[in-house]
Amino acid sequence: MSMADSRLDAHRLRIEEWLRDCFRDREPRGDLYDAMCYSLMAGGKRIRPVLLMETCRMCGGDPEAVLPFAGAIEMIHTYSLIHDDLPCMDDDDLRRGRPTNHKVYGEATAVLAGDALLTAAFEFMLDPGTGLPPARALEAAGILARAAGGRGMVGGQVLDMAGEGHSLGIHEVEELQRLKTGALIAAAAEMGCVLADGGMEQRQAARLYAERLGLAFQIQDDILDVVGDEATLGKPVGSDAKSEKNTFVTLKGLDVCRELVAKLTQEAVEALSCFGAEGDGLRWLANSLASREK
Ligand code: IPE
Ligand code: IPE
Ligand code: MG
Ligand code: MG
Ligand code: MG
Repeated sequence: MSMADSRLDAHRLRIEEWLRDCFRDREPRGDLYDAMCYSLMAGGKRIRPVLLMETCRMCGGDPEAVLPFAGAIEMIHTYSLIHDDLPCMDDDDLRRGRPTNHKVYGEATAVLAGDALLTAAFEFMLDPGTGLPPARALEAAGILARAAGGRGMVGGQVLDMAGEGHSLGIHEVEELQRLKTGALIAAAAEMGCVLADGGMEQRQAARLYAERLGLAFQIQDDILDVVGDEATLGKPVGSDAKSEKNTFVTLKGLDVCRELVAKLTQEAVEALSCFGAEGDGLRWLANSLASREK
């Protein structure tokens, strides 16, 4: 392992630890917290929190100080997955290598576990005890609120559902993916910069990197939905075809999509030039995600 990827791995281990402990003092509330932790601790790749912690470090901040924000974005991402798998949405039975939340806890608890994760994210970010300058914390929480809602992830999920069963154009699919997946990934990068009080040039570079990465990431997700291996992926293969989704693969085919992932990854890497060698971790991340199999 090189310096750059071992640093990202250290962020990942730290956020795992933080997530494991964050609901430790919970009150008993039926099986709500069990359902929340069931999905939260099922071993996701933790890309969004790692990206937030690394952009913070690259702008001179302390990754340890921003753990509540890194945890918050993973909570919102996990909530989006729990709801995405519900029978009224993608209706899938496997997630992160486990039966989906509603299969274990029932639909009502799965909906509520998602709601509670979303709300807990804001509780952690806005806790006065984080010790971060309030103006920065507020700005970062605002970025995440916007990226998660109707102008971001939720808006993208609406377009994704509305497109089922009829063909969309390439610009519509790009917009849908920019919102449903790109928004949270871009927010992670921007929040890391804001929390470290990075400069405008750094912030714009990190955002451009994350936008290219986010699109490459969703196209690779669509490729794996066709050619992936269920046991490796930890989620079903063929889910998009089953729901007659519009994806880059249905529009452009696998070969063009593989080229697009490579091109977008290259653009992501190039966006980091102002960071010099400090950007090596994120360069490595982009390249490793382009060839991921899970
Ligand atoms: C899956 O996200 C949903 C998409 C936005 C493509 P990830 O691939 O990051 O899922 P986990 O967190 O590793 O399970
Ligand atoms: C969902 O996209 C992105 C979210 C906002 C959850 P997908 O429906 O393609 O995600 P997977 O393939 O189920 O993880
Ligand atoms: Mg979906
Ligand atoms: Mg899905
Ligand atoms: Mg998918």
